[in-house]
Amino acid sequence: MLDHFYETRAAASEAAAERIAAAIERRLGLQKTAGLVVSGGTTPVQCFAALSQAELDWGRVTVALSDERWVPADDDSSNERLVRSTLLADRAASAQLLPTYQADADATEGAGMLAEAIRSGPFPFACVLLGMGADGHFASLFPDAANLADGLDVDSTTLAIPVSTAASPHPRVSLTLAALSRSDEIVLLIFGDDKRAVYEQAKADADAYPVSQLLFQKRAPVHVYWAP
Ligand code: 6PG
Repeated sequence: MLDHFYETRAAASEAAAERIAAAIERRLGLQKTAGLVVSGGTTPVQCFAALSQAELDWGRVTVALSDERWVPADDDSSNERLVRSTLLADRAASAQLLPTYQADADATEGAGMLAEAIRSGPFPFACVLLGMGADGHFASLFPDAANLADGLDVDSTTLAIPVSTAASPHPRVSLTLAALSRSDEIVLLIFGDDKRAVYEQAKADADAYPVSQLLFQKRAPVHVYWAP
């Protein structure tokens, strides 16, 4: 993995947005459409604001969520709601968002529907933007997930799984590492000393955290952007 450490969260967010935009631009130079996967949470909001200003042919970009809480898109906890309001604005407003949540499906059915949608969209991805929890999870691949091994099996043919975790009141649907690693690049954006310590442990020990498997896989280069 390649470390990009900055003094401020704004600088790290802008630099990450530049890398993501460049990866999308490269893909659009090679094929008609490009896929971008983004995480939810609080960390990426400044990056989304910078990325939404990027001069790209956003109409040819499909945005998917790395994971979703199984709630309607107007729920405060919805990652779709967050991404529509922060990333799909300004120049990026013309990008297409691949919804994850389906009102008439449960998380298990939804995972299967998402996998089909991913396969029929621009896949592999141009770029995947991920965050990380203080417990070392990424996407919704939480340490206590009963099916975590499936989620982290980089050679699996399963692209999305339902996840139950004590860390979330809602069922989740998450892309798997097998899906997330099928990307030209991965950007991991993390802030704060606690997450830095988790990252340093994760890159030293493949069994330390779920995110260790993201850092140890050899399919996609991982660029880690960090600020205090
Ligand atoms: C989510 C995210 C999740 C997030 C981490 C970090 O649905 O919450 O996809 O994986 O990236 O939990 O969250 P923060 O950025 O809020 O610390």
